[in-house]
Amino acid sequence: MCGIGEGNSGLPLRIRLVEEKDRWEVIALGSREFPYIEHPDAFFLERMENHYFFVAEVDGKFAGFIDMEPERGDTALIAGFAVRPELRGKGIGTELLKFALRFLKAVGFKKAVIYSKNGNSAANRIYRKFGFSVVKECNGILKWEKEL
Ligand SMILES: CC(C)(COP(=O)(O)OP(=O)(O)OC[C@H]1O[C@@H](n2cnc3c(N)ncnc32)[C@H](O)[C@@H]1OP(=O)(O)O)[C@@H](O)C(=O)NCCC(=O)NCCS
Repeated sequence: MCGIGEGNSGLPLRIRLVEEKDRWEVIALGSREFPYIEHPDAFFLERMENHYFFVAEVDGKFAGFIDMEPERGDTALIAGFAVRPELRGKGIGTELLKFALRFLKAVGFKKAVIYSKNGNSAANRIYRKFGFSVVKECNGILKWEKEL
């Protein structure tokens, strides 16, 4: 299931399932943004194969990704979400998250969960904008939930 179009970003944006050709760009962006992951190659390869893993492209070039997995019951976890630094602030993250929430709802999930650092103002702003609420805070990590 893929969404194609500009959304509200005004960019030639396409959101599609991850493909083999994306693997090194996903790993490069993922290891840059989530440096605490010990073996990013294995970590992201496993996710690209086994999760609901979508990428955004702008003008046919890799721009970012969103990674989702079933958590428990009818709850899905948005486990990874990132946009290339030079493309941020143009609405790509908003379009990726909009797509992800529609996708999760369409495949039958009832709730989405995301974790973020409480200092991650860009991410937290988007989650709030999309109607997520903080349901727990522990050691600076926020747990966000939203009914779909
Ligand atoms: C979070 C992230 C994916 C957002 O992607 P993006 O393409 O920049 O998002 P958008 O352009 O759609 O902007 C979303 C909102 O964040 C705001 N925003 C962007 N950068 C911001 C910043 N540095 N500080 C505060 N708000 C910011 C935008 O103004 C926008 O809000 P608005 O629509 O109310 O104006 C991107 O910042 C990123 O990749 N961050 C690093 C990885 C990360 O932290 N992932 C989330 C892990 S929980």
